[in-house]
Amino acid sequence: MEPAEQLDAVKHYTIQKLGMDHTGHGLDHIRRVVKMTKRLAKDEQVDEFIATAAAYLHDTIDEKLVMSVKEAQDELREFLRKIDFTQNQIHAVMAIITQMSFADTLDGERPTLSPEGQVVQDADWLDAIGGIGIVRAIYFGGKHGERIYDPEMAPRENMTRDDYRDLRHETIINHFYEKLLKIKPMLNTKAAQQIAAHRQQVMLDFLDEFKDEWASIR
Ligand code: ADP
Ligand code: NI
Repeated sequence: MEPAEQLDAVKHYTIQKLGMDHTGHGLDHIRRVVKMTKRLAKDEQVDEFIATAAAYLHDTIDEKLVMSVKEAQDELREFLRKIDFTQNQIHAVMAIITQMSFADTLDGERPTLSPEGQVVQDADWLDAIGGIGIVRAIYFGGKHGERIYDPEMAPRENMTRDDYRDLRHETIINHFYEKLLKIKPMLNTKAAQQIAAHRQQVMLDFLDEFKDEWASIR
């Protein structure tokens, strides 16, 4: 199979797996991550084929979205083999998508990603901040029954992976302090950090306005 045909097959695999998602991991998210990945991959001169494949596939094995992570990984490896990915290419893609999540940075050391992985991680994380990030956090929090805000509830420091997944102790506003505002300095590439600067300010302005309005109602 030609590379373009392989990427087309990868795209269709993702559509089949995530087409019905309503938690903010839908196809619009994937499309943005793929576009940003291609842009960053050119700047950083990394292997665009591996980066693009990983960008498409990065959420198809997410623990929040599949019944069994192991089965989802096995199925994906088998699919990639069928469309003529080499063993090295399969390893490269799997190493990226199993270690690039924000949750993967919480327990112990942050995993070291390949240059391609760093680009895909930046593209994914950029989509969690700024105006789109604000809407995705609200969409996700609403779907999972989070309250919007509780001034008595302090944002958690030094969250573990389990804390991050424990949505009973979360509000949408706390999610900004616990994750979204922390992303900018964690980005791998200069280009992503530059894009993040404006988005960070948008989130800070939003939080100021939200809290001003909240405090003014008594
Ligand atoms: P990653 O993309 O690093 O794997 P997630 O899959 O956990 O991170 O997050 C996907 C999207 O859902 C992001 O926009 C993120 O900010 C949002 N999100 C994750 N957890 C929460 C939460 N507890 N409350 C609100 N939004 C959340
Ligand atoms: Ni994602």
